[in-house]
Amino acid sequence: MRNINIALGRNSYGIIIGVGLLETIGEQLSKLGLNGKAVIVTNPYIKELYGNKLEKLLEGAGFRSCIVTLPDGEEFKSLDQAGELYRRFSECNIERMTPVLALGGGVIGDLAGFVAATYMRGVPLIQLPTTLLAQVDSSIGGKTAVNHGGLKNIIGAFYQPDLVIADISSLATLPPEEVLNGLSEVIKYGVIRDRELFELVETNISRLTGKNRPDFDLLEEVVFRCARIKASFVEQDERDTGIRNLLNLGHTVGHAVETVSDFRIKHGRAVAIGMVAAGNIALRQGIFPEADLARLTQLLSRAGLPEKISGLDVSRIMEATQHDKKVSGGKIRFILPRIIGDAFIADNVELSLVEQVLKDCYE
Ligand SMILES: NC(=O)c1ccc[n+]([C@@H]2O[C@H](COP(=O)([O-])OP(=O)(O)OC[C@H]3O[C@@H](n4cnc5c(N)ncnc54)[C@H](O)[C@@H]3O)[C@@H](O)[C@H]2O)c1
Ligand SMILES: [Zn+2]
Repeated sequence: MRNINIALGRNSYGIIIGVGLLETIGEQLSKLGLNGKAVIVTNPYIKELYGNKLEKLLEGAGFRSCIVTLPDGEEFKSLDQAGELYRRFSECNIERMTPVLALGGGVIGDLAGFVAATYMRGVPLIQLPTTLLAQVDSSIGGKTAVNHGGLKNIIGAFYQPDLVIADISSLATLPPEEVLNGLSEVIKYGVIRDRELFELVETNISRLTGKNRPDFDLLEEVVFRCARIKASFVEQDERDTGIRNLLNLGHTVGHAVETVSDFRIKHGRAVAIGMVAAGNIALRQGIFPEADLARLTQLLSRAGLPEKISGLDVSRIMEATQHDKKVSGGKIRFILPRIIGDAFIADNVELSLVEQVLKDCYE
């Protein structure tokens, strides 16, 4: 088991990572001084896999619990479903100190987190991430949100959880496409801050994606290394105005690719393409070594993530890339790799260079 502490003054909290940790839920809640009642928020599929068992564990530890399910899918990360949750919380007689246990991927974490932030002006929140992406990224750092009016994460709050429990065993049931979504972010952490992590993934890629999956010890190490980086960025920059931006490596072009493909290209794949675009931009600026770019593209391709795609309209990707980004004098802000293991915020990347790289990647 690994422990990380996020030091944020009164909002400090722990992240625990290990195999079989959901079994310890009663003990973990007691340590936080929580007792009496707890509410689990999940979806029907995860309820069957882990929710019913969690409910029994809570009851065994002397908690009265209430389990609330929301439909599965990004389209349900909505104000309507938040409203539904408020209604269910009130039926469950949730009180000011009743913890909300968000059991699921990033969709459940973001939505249950937002509702926990606002119900009675804030109730305790425990993140129980069950996807690789949620364990390495979305459960940490306090960003909660719902989508609205066609805009992603447009209504939300910064609300730190009281504890994050990443139970590695839950990754055993993850479908391959979801492993890839998380793995793309894992590789991103390697590129921005942890060359050893990158090498660990390089050496063990088949144990992360192939038939030999899952390797719990390896996954524990991988999740720990990513969570440690995110925790450190969040400590330094809770509100995402500085160093936390580095987590957007691959996401500027990545989001544009997702949008232009009408979300047929999944997040992890789009981020992979975006990382290679950022790598090419940095290479052409004479910053990123060609050998490192080759290692990155090879690793992505061995993982089953695309490093290139064709058939997308570059002018639409350019448009989407500039959408809500500050563009001045034909220049745009980008996260660029310096080497595998170090990235920086580049404020003045020429749009013409971005366009040239995209043409080379997509046409
Ligand atoms: N708050 C943040 O900082 C932050 C950061 C990154 C992403 N996000 C958000 O996270 C969301 C994406 O999260 P995600 O990738 O976890 O997607 P998700 O929550 O939609 O989960 C993906 C799928 O996997 C299923 N699933 C979850 N756990 C499983 C398990 N253990 N076994 C089998 N199936 C399982 C889910 O039911 C779902 O169908 C997006 O809404 C994104 O905006 C938030
Ligand atoms: Zn992402």
